[in-house]
Amino acid sequence: MVQDSVILITGGAGFIGSHVVRKFVQSGNYQVINLDKLTYAGNLENLRDIENHANYKFIKGDICDFDFIRKLFNNYDFSGVIHLAAESHVDRSISNPMEFIQTNVVGTVSLLNAAKESWSGKNGRRFYHVSTDEVYGSLGDEGFFTETTSYDPKSPYSASKASSDHFVRAYGNTYGLPFVISNCSNNYGPNHFPEKLIPLMIHNIQNGKPLPVYGKGENIRDWLYVEDHARAIELIFEKGRNGDTYNIGGFNEWKNIDLVNLLCDIMDRKLGNTQGISRELITFVKDRAGHDLRYAIDATKLKGELGWEPSLQFKEGLEKTVDWYFENEQWLKDVTSGDYLRYYDEHYSNR
Ligand code: NAD
Ligand code: DAU
Repeated sequence: MVQDSVILITGGAGFIGSHVVRKFVQSGNYQVINLDKLTYAGNLENLRDIENHANYKFIKGDICDFDFIRKLFNNYDFSGVIHLAAESHVDRSISNPMEFIQTNVVGTVSLLNAAKESWSGKNGRRFYHVSTDEVYGSLGDEGFFTETTSYDPKSPYSASKASSDHFVRAYGNTYGLPFVISNCSNNYGPNHFPEKLIPLMIHNIQNGKPLPVYGKGENIRDWLYVEDHARAIELIFEKGRNGDTYNIGGFNEWKNIDLVNLLCDIMDRKLGNTQGISRELITFVKDRAGHDLRYAIDATKLKGELGWEPSLQFKEGLEKTVDWYFENEQWLKDVTSGDYLRYYDEHYSNR
């Protein structure tokens, strides 16, 4: 890639996108255009520190608006697209699946189509689709998801992401669009919206509110610090093979209840509480419909081919995360006011 190559990052105001945008802007190797609709999950506060960099520009827009996307591709000669914009929360996909099909499927195809038109006859382009391990479905007690595991999505969210992965591969196969896909496990860290397990628990512990654990808390997730994901994305974008898929994961499985207990203990220590007091807030609530039991990524390929490994131990990452939320009280206040309260009440009142 040349110094002045222009790349489009979609969903850059969201949780993972903001870390990816910062990484690419700070590398100084690209002109970065961040396209984001600023839904409830998008927040320009996540990018305040880099918003005035000369190689960064924010554009507000909807990936589903094909005329607008087509014009954007006419205005800029993008050498690459890193596509993260999506509806990302499984619980919201259960209550409102249509929005997920619109953004995750129609929006992705709109970008693919604009790239196909604009890149016809040009070399050295790449469409990078940032996807999830949830496309592989759910594991039992044993085994791992590898890049060759069959797709078996089980929630409206994962079905929409699986569909978008299929469209990316179909555009590669049918039109020769150069692409790469990565499927990552659960991220955590700064800027995580407090509808997701870890920031929700941090917020509720701070406010002495019940900690809603779905079912018996026995579901297992594989957690990865978000900056490690952003580093993997940079590596794959620059060095991954066209037409290939890379799994990204933390080699770090935790049962939800064990994770929540650990978080309670970290928070009690940092808040100067009596140890054990936050654990008393744990409340077992009605399970998520169709709740996937276990995700676990085998990231051997990424390690072997591109030398990537997670850099942080989980406890260290959680400490950093909790510190970030303590230091960014206003961020948390802002995102948990207004619509968030309505969502929270509706979602948890009948559990
Ligand atoms: P997020 O919900 O925090 O952010 C999504 C961003 O996309 C927001 O800024 C939002 O405003 C924007 N957006 C939504 N609809 C849009 C539209 N129509 N047009 C333009 N922008 C739009 O999501 P996240 O957790 O940062 O996830 C980013 C991507 O990574 C998603 O594609 C998700 O599927 C994938 N992923 C997430 C995780 C995870 O643990 N969070 C793990 C693996 C993969
Ligand atoms: O695996 C990658 C996926 O991880 C991403 O593709 C998704 O975008 C991301 O949201 C995440 O999905 P999960 O459903 O695994 O994350 P969530 O934080 O919503 O839930 C994690 C686990 O915690 C899950 O087993 C459900 C449980 N949970 C969640 C919430 C919000 C609870 O027990 N209580 C809660 O209140």
